[in-house]
Amino acid sequence: MCSIRPLAELHNVSIKRTNKGIASTGYLLTLDGSRRLQVDLARPSRADLSVESMADATISTVAGWKKSLILRIDAENPALTERLLSYITPGIMVALGIYYHVLTILEIVFIQRQFSVLFDLSTLREKAFLRFWLANGAAMSAAMPPELIPLLSTLRGTVLDIGPGSGEQLHRYTSSSVSAIYGAEPAIKLHPKLQMKAMDAGLGDKYHILGCGAEPRSLIPALAGVGLIGEGNTSEGIFDDIVSIRVLCGVPDLKETVEGLYELLKPGGRFIAYEHVVSPWKTEKGSTVARVLQWMYMWIGGWRFWMAGCNLDRDIGMVLREAGKSEDGPGWSRVEMKTLNAWSTILHIVGYLVKN
Ligand SMILES: C[S@@+](CC[C@H](N)C(=O)[O-])C[C@H]1O[C@@H](n2cnc3c(N)ncnc32)[C@H](O)[C@@H]1O
Repeated sequence: MCSIRPLAELHNVSIKRTNKGIASTGYLLTLDGSRRLQVDLARPSRADLSVESMADATISTVAGWKKSLILRIDAENPALTERLLSYITPGIMVALGIYYHVLTILEIVFIQRQFSVLFDLSTLREKAFLRFWLANGAAMSAAMPPELIPLLSTLRGTVLDIGPGSGEQLHRYTSSSVSAIYGAEPAIKLHPKLQMKAMDAGLGDKYHILGCGAEPRSLIPALAGVGLIGEGNTSEGIFDDIVSIRVLCGVPDLKETVEGLYELLKPGGRFIAYEHVVSPWKTEKGSTVARVLQWMYMWIGGWRFWMAGCNLDRDIGMVLREAGKSEDGPGWSRVEMKTLNAWSTILHIVGYLVKN
């Protein structure tokens, strides 16, 4: 059960770090974000972080608050353990990627006996990714940053949802202003779960699944197939909002894909993005160690191979900002993008851009 409690009611909450005595300061507390900490108010000794002041807290919602608070650390100055965890997380994910490839190979050899698939690397990797995502996608989507959730609840008109996966975000698409959503998901085997999640979210009639990628050569024919691009029509200005959550890291040609998506937006339309990106290591908030590790995981650890073509080092924010730029000026009238955890190895950008 979820209850809503304004910040005022939480002023007396005091949370003490007790684990291994590592001092930490400078945390901003936000709710329901990507890293959750269960803080049991009845037994503060179970708390896992230290808060100097609640002044900067932006807690507005507390899930099941009588039992526990769910808090996210959005640390500008993270504790050493936070940093170290961020450094090894891609390694853990690569290990998981290898594990799911091994399971997939065993299944192909001993159960399906489809030996030819062993030599078809793209099918093999797709099968392994499906296994990975179906086992972990829900957990990896349980907490999303508070900057993203209000954006998803304000979708309007005709929406393009690229790479929706198994639909783990759809319960956040709570706006009644949506008339239709087109989910461009190339992994066909995820479609049944995506369909089910659309129904559960009350989007059953509005959610249309397309078996295609976000890149123009795949997306445009699919949109034509459902009548969104008629004969002689251009692909310009079809969608009121486009949503991209953890997808642009893996599309085949980032710039071409983003430019194609830009064209599909109506003027005034929003491109809503939550993506992991290259470390801004040269900036004050960035980290050289994180950037070196990104490079190592990508080029020595085999990140892209084991993680279904994902890239750790794309400057997606820059490519988005540059989209639609011409001699007449920038392509966007408004850009509201924020970098989260710039010090981390897996850091994200979140926000939206409004088309001119
Ligand atoms: C990490 S999952 C994210 C799923 C979902 N957006 C979420 O955040 O819960 C990436 C998704 O992008 C899809 N994908 C991969 N290549 C794509 C492409 N070229 N165009 C669109 N989606 C793609 C994958 O099949 C997968 O479902």
